[in-house]
Amino acid sequence: MLNPPKLIGHRGVKSLSPENTLSSIALAHKLGLNWVEVDIKISRDLIPFLLHDDTLDRTTTGEGSPTHLDYNEIKKLDAGIVFYKHPTKIYIPTLHEVLIFCEKNNMGLNIELKPNLGFEKKNVIAIAKLLKIFNFTNQYYFSSFDWNSLILMKELLPSAYYGLLMDDFNNNIFLSNALEICKKYNFSCCGFNKKVINTDIINEVNMSGLITTVYSEDNLKLNEANELWSNGVKSIFIDDPSEFKIS
Ligand code: G3P
Ligand code: MG
Repeated sequence: MLNPPKLIGHRGVKSLSPENTLSSIALAHKLGLNWVEVDIKISRDLIPFLLHDDTLDRTTTGEGSPTHLDYNEIKKLDAGIVFYKHPTKIYIPTLHEVLIFCEKNNMGLNIELKPNLGFEKKNVIAIAKLLKIFNFTNQYYFSSFDWNSLILMKELLPSAYYGLLMDDFNNNIFLSNALEICKKYNFSCCGFNKKVINTDIINEVNMSGLITTVYSEDNLKLNEANELWSNGVKSIFIDDPSEFKIS
């Protein structure tokens, strides 16, 4: 059964080290987190790599969509310069490198499928191919706001674990839809933005036999996390766990 811990490092530990990099994942590990979440999309040559945004602009020296670049060009970009405000040797890693690091360090992994628009299917196929070749023995699960990516991935990797993500309940997204999909496809988990979560939602998700997770745009405080855990949330995505005692 999918069993993520109370705290999952968010994009590594994104407030303490450049997000979605090996340095950030290594720091999460050093701080005692035994799971991390990463955002995955593909390059022009179909290599799955780590990047949150649709473009390279916010976090790297690159510009525009990464879908126009091969991974060897993406790797040349500085993925630490924005965070540290000076040039670094930190680069955008591949999912393969993350699997190697997590395997070696006994870390669990949440792979968020974050395809650029129009690349959803290619993204799933490339990631599934990698996971089929790589014998990852630690627990992991796929999540996505793009539910169709999860449904397709489930066809390709039926024994993996899956979790839907929900940012809000506008745009005709209802909790009942999510629960129906989870039931139909045997998904394990529903993840919510802190701004939409409440005890009714947590109870409904948990009563459906699913795990509830919560993420936030700002780092969750210890008192907020304690309240969420005591209300039945299983895992919280954390940008900086300094305030937390990690056992
Ligand atoms: O999976 C939780 C969280 O990573 C979802 O939001 O935007 O940080 O990828 P985002
Ligand atoms: Mg994410």
